[in-house]
Amino acid sequence: MKNVLLETERLILRKPQKKDYSDLQEGINNINIAKEITSMPHPYTLDMVQDYFGKQINKWEDQDPKDLLFVIELKSEEKVIGAMGLYGIDRKKGIAETGSWINEDYWRHGYITEAKIAANTFAFNSLGLEKLISPVFADNIASNATQRKMGYEFIGKEEEKCSCLATGEEHEVNIYELAKAKWRLVLSMIKEI
Ligand SMILES: CC(C)(COP(=O)(O)OP(=O)(O)OC[C@H]1O[C@@H](n2cnc3c(N)ncnc32)[C@H](O)[C@@H]1OP(=O)(O)O)[C@@H](O)C(=O)NCCC(=O)NCCS
Repeated sequence: MKNVLLETERLILRKPQKKDYSDLQEGINNINIAKEITSMPHPYTLDMVQDYFGKQINKWEDQDPKDLLFVIELKSEEKVIGAMGLYGIDRKKGIAETGSWINEDYWRHGYITEAKIAANTFAFNSLGLEKLISPVFADNIASNATQRKMGYEFIGKEEEKCSCLATGEEHEVNIYELAKAKWRLVLSMIKEI
């Protein structure tokens, strides 16, 4: 896929680069993030960042990538403060899963809202997807609130509980979906706020 750069008022979403690794580790090596994500190890060493994000960088070279991970750069600090992924992209079925995190020092500034506006619009308008799916631990207050704010519809719970790699704890998982038609409506409402 050719290089994609999504720009919002305060953020740039782009393909990860090696120079981002220390910012990524600063953000991701945090139990308050790892405890909300199914398969994020903790502690998260720089070697692990190189390994995981190196693989994600390579996936951008595919013609028809199944996963696209964007880093979220804060323009004012030229610093990567999070990541936002589209996973299991299936253009025939028109679906992908979304997942994201923001460095804890930057929570509650509306950054994931802004990043999702850009990434979801890219997924629907440029990749031509019809539906985005977001599985969220049922007890993750911030992420459940984010999905609802962004117009995702609660579909139900996964049949089985999911074990978190970092904590070993079992969680019920809420499934949210966002349809392209609904997104157009939500987008116009979010932009008016
Ligand atoms: C979930 C997460 C990405 C939100 O990022 P953020 O940039 O702080 O979110 P925003 O500031 O854009 O907030 C979006 C909405 O989420 C809700 N929200 C965010 N944090 C919240 C909190 N701690 N408690 C309650 N609601 C919260 C609010 O409704 C907020 O909208 P509002 O500010 O207009 O009320 C961040 O908390 C995070 O990285 N958490 C750990 C990893 C994680 O849970 N990832 C998602 C896995 S499914």
